[in-house]
Amino acid sequence: TSTKSSQLVIFGGTGDLALRKLQPALYKLQREGLMDDVCAIIALGRGDSSDADYRQLIKEKMREFLPAHFWDEQHWGAFSAKLHYISLDVNSLKDYHNLAETIQQHPESRAVFYLATSSTLYTSICRNLHSIGVVNEQSRVVLEKPLGHDLTSCTEINHEVLQVFPERNIFRIDHYLGKETVQNLLVLRFGNALFGPLWNSQYIDNIQITVAEEIGVEGRGDFYAKTGALRDMVQNHILQLLCLVAMEPPANLRADTIRDEKVKVLQALRPITADNVKSKTVRGQYTAGAVSAAPVAAFLDETGFEDSNNTETFVALQADVHNWRWEGTPFYLRTGKRLARRYSEIIVELKKHPFSLFEGDPNDLPNKLVIRLQPEENITLYKVNKKPGLGRQMKLEQVELKLDADLHDQLQAHEAYERLLLDVFEGDQTLFMRRDEVEACWAWVDSIIDAWQTAGIKTKPYAAGTMGPNSSLALPEKHGRSWHE
Ligand code: BG6
Repeated sequence: TSTKSSQLVIFGGTGDLALRKLQPALYKLQREGLMDDVCAIIALGRGDSSDADYRQLIKEKMREFLPAHFWDEQHWGAFSAKLHYISLDVNSLKDYHNLAETIQQHPESRAVFYLATSSTLYTSICRNLHSIGVVNEQSRVVLEKPLGHDLTSCTEINHEVLQVFPERNIFRIDHYLGKETVQNLLVLRFGNALFGPLWNSQYIDNIQITVAEEIGVEGRGDFYAKTGALRDMVQNHILQLLCLVAMEPPANLRADTIRDEKVKVLQALRPITADNVKSKTVRGQYTAGAVSAAPVAAFLDETGFEDSNNTETFVALQADVHNWRWEGTPFYLRTGKRLARRYSEIIVELKKHPFSLFEGDPNDLPNKLVIRLQPEENITLYKVNKKPGLGRQMKLEQVELKLDADLHDQLQAHEAYERLLLDVFEGDQTLFMRRDEVEACWAWVDSIIDAWQTAGIKTKPYAAGTMGPNSSLALPEKHGRSWHE
């Protein structure tokens, strides 16, 4: 039997993620009439606070983080009535008894535990939830990234969580998988006959994935100093994008079928070694500079932690997918904080054609498919066109063909977290990572961290507001390629 109504319990209920992303997403779902089956949202935090204070806090944050046109007193009234706050120290079992009482007020509904804390606390939270008897076969748990710090810690956490929740009830979140264009990638590849035959190393010269951010480490210096860009962004978001670009067509859209295909890609990633780490990776850390004309401080001045000297806030990599389809096509990946502007895109660059037929043929302007995830969402095909005009000699130019103009009404755009929360309530695991997937991601990332350590690779400075250290340009240039700008 399965229950319809859910109650959501958020560990880290006053944390950055809950305030900035989760609560606004839940409120928007409420506004769209999609929260009728969620009877309570119980936020847990360390501080003493009442339901009324917590509701007030969320209201203020909502006004700060949500565009004004989403605001509506009536929906807010219905939403805030569901919000509750309980003060709880995650490591202290006695604090959990209040939680148990609150959960038991809705005995018929499914408890969904959202762990938005550091993953070092997941084991203790799961054990305590188990001891107070609030976990049953209906309960679900959502695990925020990064799950662990390396393969060993990730495996331990997975092992512990699995003592309490079966895999089918575990939702390992990667919010990039909830982005509209990321899902559209599957439709682009497998819903169009045009691209399928070209999607391999015979026709594709290289693939680039850039996730550039303008923001620095915000209030998360403590976490970030220990984590760095490779663990924060590549281990999860960027590798997920890589999987969706590189995977074989799944036989159907079932969660496990898709996840099986993604795991195969991860298993095909060639580990980076101390011998090639210098030519395949670049680590950077921002110094003072200006982003969007505003001066910003250096990473070290922002965090002020002594051990953050060698924390990378930028990383560029060449990943090789060592399999039948992709051997010979490098995947260039890069991400960083305090870069020139915020944008994320995937570039699929086709090989040049073998022979120039037209005089002045810009053979150095290969066809490119640009899949833009943010800030705007669109897909563009770069193609060569005849410049209109008379004259015997044809002139060519590169033009951009927009493949999905006006597809997305930005005003109505859904946040990734809305889709993912809805999937959790509905029990659809397709957009969540399975245990073996996360572990395979870590295995590859560990190879890089080990290689950095063995080869003594240090971060290179880059001024805030640029696109990373100069040496990141050299990464594709070594093979006569360049980043798409
Ligand atoms: C998070 C990272 O997972 O993703 C942050 O921890 C990063 O450091 C964020 O800023 C980026 O998400 P988005 O959706 O704004 O691209």
